[in-house]
Amino acid sequence: MKGIVLAGGAGTRLYPLTRVASKQLQPVYDKPMIYYPLATLLGAGIREVLLISTPQDVPRFESLLGDGSQWGMDISYAVQPEPRGIAQAFLIGSDFVGDRSVALILGDNIFHGNIGLARLVESFTTGAHIFGYPVRDPERYGVVDLDHDGNVRSLVEKPTEPISNLAVPGLYLYDGRVVEMTEGLVPSGRGELEITDLNKAYLDRGELVATRLARGIAWLDSGTHESLLEASNFIATIEHRQGLKIACLEEIALRTGAITPAEFATLVSAMAPSTYREYLERVAAERA
Ligand code: TTP
Repeated sequence: MKGIVLAGGAGTRLYPLTRVASKQLQPVYDKPMIYYPLATLLGAGIREVLLISTPQDVPRFESLLGDGSQWGMDISYAVQPEPRGIAQAFLIGSDFVGDRSVALILGDNIFHGNIGLARLVESFTTGAHIFGYPVRDPERYGVVDLDHDGNVRSLVEKPTEPISNLAVPGLYLYDGRVVEMTEGLVPSGRGELEITDLNKAYLDRGELVATRLARGIAWLDSGTHESLLEASNFIATIEHRQGLKIACLEEIALRTGAITPAEFATLVSAMAPSTYREYLERVAAERA
């Protein structure tokens, strides 16, 4: 399966942080936000990734992440000239996707805990797969209603009347028809190709599956100053307690076999002296 990270948008709620660098380049504790969704993909074995961002930010992501080969990944880039909806990612990335199945993750979505993505990716064949996560304020999100067997009853974008407390996080799996299905969508009243409409199109065909994420999993928001600080504090708290890093791409690449121990050692030796480097040296020493 291929992966797309959508990391455009205006980031207006984070002004003035986002005046010169996009939301997804902001730090979440000890690493740039974009590391977290990339880690979600890499940890699930998805190494071929298209990163889509604004014309100004694509070069900045390129200088941060390069071609991804340092992590055994293959990262390419594409521009979204204007934020015209999350589903537009499939039109921008149509050549990249072709007729392969693809996972789309939003560049500001942070997951912590085992969401079972590697297994899902491995067994995925057709249709679309989304997640549902309990939140206090579902009216801010796309919301999914599931029956007792976990079948999707309905999907509503920012419902005024609550249909359930399950928000749909920005992580979706689609089969090889996704480009064609997106081409059939009509832009919404706000002029966007809505991801909820794409999911509804799969639902109408009886081909949408949803997994309810367990309450032990963290799905963090980082779009406002408060939620960005909370996300940083959350990551810092767990990292300090465990002495382990979350979303450390070098470590994940090593542990999933995307790079060899020798490649890992070369990568670490080229790194600036820092607590990040010290951590990676410890990872290498513990595995030796
Ligand atoms: P939002 O949080 O809805 O928008 P935003 O990031 O532009 O923030 P703000 O409301 O503060 O202006 O977007 C969710 C994520 O999806 C975010 O990572 C940006 C991304 N996105 C795109 O890259 N392109 C798009 O067309 C849309 C709608 C969102």
